[in-house]
Amino acid sequence: MIVVTGATGNVGRALVDQLTTADTPVRALVRDPRRAHLPTTAETTRLTVSADATDMTAQFDGADALFLHASATGEHTTAFLAAARTAGVQHVTVLSSIAVEDDPAHDTFIHTWHRTLEQDVRDSGLDWTFLRPGGFATNTLQWAWQIHDGDTVRGPYAKSVSTPIHEADIAAVARHSLLERHSGTAHVLTGPEAVTTEDQIAAIAHAIGRPLTYTEIPPHDVVPEMFPIIPADMVPGFVASLATTVDTAPPLTTTVQTVTGNPARTYAQWAQDHADDFRTQN
Ligand SMILES: NC(=O)c1ccc[n+]([C@@H]2O[C@H](COP(=O)([O-])OP(=O)(O)OC[C@H]3O[C@@H](n4cnc5c(N)ncnc54)[C@H](OP(=O)(O)O)[C@@H]3O)[C@@H](O)[C@H]2O)c1
Repeated sequence: MIVVTGATGNVGRALVDQLTTADTPVRALVRDPRRAHLPTTAETTRLTVSADATDMTAQFDGADALFLHASATGEHTTAFLAAARTAGVQHVTVLSSIAVEDDPAHDTFIHTWHRTLEQDVRDSGLDWTFLRPGGFATNTLQWAWQIHDGDTVRGPYAKSVSTPIHEADIAAVARHSLLERHSGTAHVLTGPEAVTTEDQIAAIAHAIGRPLTYTEIPPHDVVPEMFPIIPADMVPGFVASLATTVDTAPPLTTTVQTVTGNPARTYAQWAQDHADDFRTQN
C-alpha cells in the first residue's frame, strides 16, 4: 500500500491515476475527501496532521511507502514521518524542487522550504528518494484566462527559455521510485527540450486550433494578474529571474527516460493533454 499526500495536486493526482491503473493499492490523504474526486479504486482518507505522532499513525495502517508533498505536513513534518515509520512505512519519496540545488548564498523561500523538508526526511530514519523537478508545464495554465478572453497573451520576455516538465512524467518517476525503492537517490527532473515562451504559446495555439499571439510588454508593466499562481509579492523576483533565461540554454536531464524507459513528454504533448483547459469556457 502506498500513501499519497498532495493527491489532488498536479503530480499527486497523476500518481494516484498511474498507481490505480496498475492495480497498486493506494491511499490518498486529502483535506476534504468529498471534494477530492479521485478514482474509486483508491482509498480516499481525510489527512490528519498534528504535533502528536500517535494521532497520525492510523492513516498509515498497512502502508509501506509514502509520497510526500511539501504542503501536506505544515510544521509537523517530523511527527508525521515518525507516525509513518511507527506504522510500518519504510520508504518516502519527496516532491522537492530543483531549487534545492541552487547556491545557498542566493537563498530563496522555495530553496529553504524544500531543503528543510529534505533534511527532516533524512533525519527521519526512513529510506528516501528526492524528486527535484524544474518548472512544471502546469505553470503555464496561468495564461488560460487571457486565452479564454481573446487571442493575445501579454507578458514579459517572449524569448525567455525554460524546460517545462509534464506532471505525468514526475508522477511516473515517483511511481518507479516508490515501487523499486530508489533509496538515497535525488532525481533531478526536467522536460526533454528547451522552449521559449513564444514556442509554448504556439504549442497551445496548435492544440486548441486557434491562432494566438504573445505580445511582449516591458517588465515594469507586468501586473500580478499575469501570474495568478505566484503570490503577488514574489512576482517582481520571478520576472527578474525570467530575464536571466532569455536566449540561454538551460541544463536538461534525461532522468525521466532513464527511470521510466519512456522519453519525457514534450511541451506540445502537454498542451494537447490540457487543450480543454485553454478552450473558451461556456
Ligand atoms: N510548479 C513548479 O514549477 C514546481 C517546480 C518544482 C517543484 N515544485 C514543488 O511541487 C509542489 C507543488 O506540486 P503540485 O503542483 O503537484 O501541487 P498543487 O497542484 O499545487 O497541489 C497542492 C496539493 O497540496 C495539498 N495542500 C496544499 N496546501 C495544503 C495544506 N495546507 N495542508 C495539506 N495539504 C495541502 C493539496 O491537498 P488537498 O487535496 O488536501 O487540498 C493539494 O493536493 C510544491 O512543493 C512546489 O514547490 C513546483
